[in-house]
Amino acid sequence: MDPHEARLRTRAISRRHFLRSAVGAAGAGWMMARSARAQDAPAATPGADPLHVAIIGTGVQGRVLLKDCLKIPGLRFKAVCDIWAYSQRYARNTLKKYDQLVSVYEDYREMLEKETDLDAVIVATPDFVHAEHALACLQAGKHVYCEKEMAHTLQNAASMVAAARNSGKIMQIGHQRRSNPVYRYALEMIDKDNVCGRITNCYGQWNRTAQAKLTWPPQYIIAPDVLKKYGYDTMDRFRNWRWFRDFSAGPIADLGSHQIDIFSWFLHADPASLVAVGGHDYYPDREWYEDVMTVYEYPYKRDGKSSAVRAFYQVLNTNGFGHYYERFHGDQGTLTISEDPRKCYYVPEAGRELPEWMAGVEPAERDGYQAVLLPKVLANKSAEAAAAMGLCETKSIHQWHLENFFDAVRAGDKRRLTCPPEAAYPTAVAVLSVIPALEAGEKHRFKPEDYQA
Ligand SMILES: NC(=O)c1ccc[n+]([C@@H]2O[C@H](COP(=O)([O-])OP(=O)(O)OC[C@H]3O[C@@H](n4cnc5c(N)ncnc54)[C@H](O)[C@@H]3O)[C@@H](O)[C@H]2O)c1
Repeated sequence: MDPHEARLRTRAISRRHFLRSAVGAAGAGWMMARSARAQDAPAATPGADPLHVAIIGTGVQGRVLLKDCLKIPGLRFKAVCDIWAYSQRYARNTLKKYDQLVSVYEDYREMLEKETDLDAVIVATPDFVHAEHALACLQAGKHVYCEKEMAHTLQNAASMVAAARNSGKIMQIGHQRRSNPVYRYALEMIDKDNVCGRITNCYGQWNRTAQAKLTWPPQYIIAPDVLKKYGYDTMDRFRNWRWFRDFSAGPIADLGSHQIDIFSWFLHADPASLVAVGGHDYYPDREWYEDVMTVYEYPYKRDGKSSAVRAFYQVLNTNGFGHYYERFHGDQGTLTISEDPRKCYYVPEAGRELPEWMAGVEPAERDGYQAVLLPKVLANKSAEAAAAMGLCETKSIHQWHLENFFDAVRAGDKRRLTCPPEAAYPTAVAVLSVIPALEAGEKHRFKPEDYQA
């Protein structure tokens, strides 16, 4: 499927359907899942068989996904796979509190061989093994939820698109903003309500305070032969995989993939070119560029007219000011969005009035401007939007995306997914092209066929 078609198909998911299923699932789920006790686990829909689920990789993100899954009705964990005893123990003990007794594996191959009745597998391992794990699960006939960045090479990312397509199974990539109602309504505000007018520039950043490397409890050192079996040579590189070229495409992929995905999704286009600069002079003990700045040029169409949009993105690992958000600048206003609701706001251009449907929302000061905060504005927009905003107060950012995945699995309908691999692949192309452009010191021009897997 070409990227344009994939994008249209992703958009064709009825927003009404998406929100109805997500709001419904949450209504059943979140209230019952606030304390970690077995009797509090949400019940499946009467008459529906539980979906049997396993997870590969129960580190920081795997645990977040696991806990969010426990808030979704009708899921039954059967197995956990991780090469590290520390992560295995955490996951097994968490699940035990919900009476979900699981088999624990070190090797995903053994898990797939023995756990024949799994419906779906969540992959939350380091990026360099996503393709290996996702492909094995698809080949074993399982549906797959795979974390972003979908792969650390384009070749691996393309193999995932092909494998998902050929398997007929459902695969969701973990760009969770695509299921977040704040983002979905923000896009509606730009596309239908025209709050920004003609967009001319975008800005995005993920700034993080300088951090020391991760360590490990001495009693949880992995034996050298086990590390080697799974591609690691030291505990340091195993724990700090994000900083090494063998395992990750670096911070621009790790963090930028989330936000560059938003540029492309909101502009309904893929970048035509990029330039990038970066430095790796702050951390002598790491391989990747800690700070990267990039400018993409996007083709842009509005009201039948073609123009260009420049999108600046930066990732900093040496200063955390402003943290993370994306911003859309247009000739009628500026919309700022983030997974942090406090950073979601709209400011009209000087001399422009707020749209009528925003009137009555009390303005708040942001960056010296009179702004309206998105959660408040959206609560005013429609009953459906108000219900979604209410749920956002209690539901985590990942739960929406997991619910979308399991909804598609239950329906056997991949068209319901908000981020199938066909939608994630063009973002992988845009993001994984940054380092080659940076190292070549040249403007990189994309060809339309680059975005086809
Ligand atoms: N969507 C998001 O917002 C988000 C946030 C954080 C991380 N992530 C993604 O989640 C993934 C995991 O990141 P993390 O922060 O949890 O890393 P982590 O290092 O904390 O956890 C990785 C886990 O995978 C295990 N592991 C490593 N190799 C394995 C193998 N071959 N087989 C089985 N288990 C293996 C490790 O023991 C560890 O428990 C990455 O792809 C990352 O990009 C996504």
